[in-house]
Amino acid sequence: MAENRKKILIIFAHPTPHKSRLNTALVNAVSDIEDVTVRKLYDLYPDFYIDVEKEQELIVSHDIIVWQHPFYWYSAPSLLKEWIDLVLEHGFAYGQEGVALRGKKVLTSTTTGGRQEAYHEEGRNHFTMRQLLAPFEQTVHLCKMEYLPPFIIHGSLLIDKEHIRQSAEDYRKIIISLRDDIFSEKEIMEKKYINHLLD
Ligand SMILES: Cc1cc2nc3c(=O)[nH]c(=O)nc-3n(C[C@H](O)[C@H](O)[C@H](O)COP(=O)(O)O)c2cc1C
Repeated sequence: MAENRKKILIIFAHPTPHKSRLNTALVNAVSDIEDVTVRKLYDLYPDFYIDVEKEQELIVSHDIIVWQHPFYWYSAPSLLKEWIDLVLEHGFAYGQEGVALRGKKVLTSTTTGGRQEAYHEEGRNHFTMRQLLAPFEQTVHLCKMEYLPPFIIHGSLLIDKEHIRQSAEDYRKIIISLRDDIFSEKEIMEKKYINHLLD
């Protein structure tokens, strides 16, 4: 088992973690897992000066990248966008010679204030999460990587303690299953949300 293990890099972007109920619980639930590296972007780069070389070295040395963040304005907090803008450079991540990331996998792990039914063509937000996450998904494809079905917890503003505990446990199980390559590609890719692997 150990030799098939994947290395997972979690790029965590929350600008106000001291106010976070959900993402902090989620990230704490995976921080101690062997072969998982957590990078808290707002702690590392409060001035937004990202060490591009260091971040590129880290992605190269991991197999699966997780972008973990609260869902802000139908997208991610700005420091994650800055990380994407700077780290996924031409000639490194994309372009004719940009093949450093080929074959890696990327998972979005996000939490929304809105409920699941709001993220629907006829719901309050008019679009599904997969539609709203399309810029992330296409970025991943352009870099010759594979975009996994996202891990999403909805209704974060009304969530109670027990649901937070359960969500954190689910997240830990999903991260361990990806690390240990438990589910087949087919099993994973047919899910709308990767959380559903645990149903
Ligand atoms: C600046 C900002 C923008 C937000 N935009 C959205 C949004 O577009 N859709 C949504 O469902 N929730 C939105 N929310 C709610 C957050 O997703 C919610 O606060 C977060 O998931 C809670 O996670 P936490 O407990 O880790 O902070 C927004 C919150 C903030 C502060």
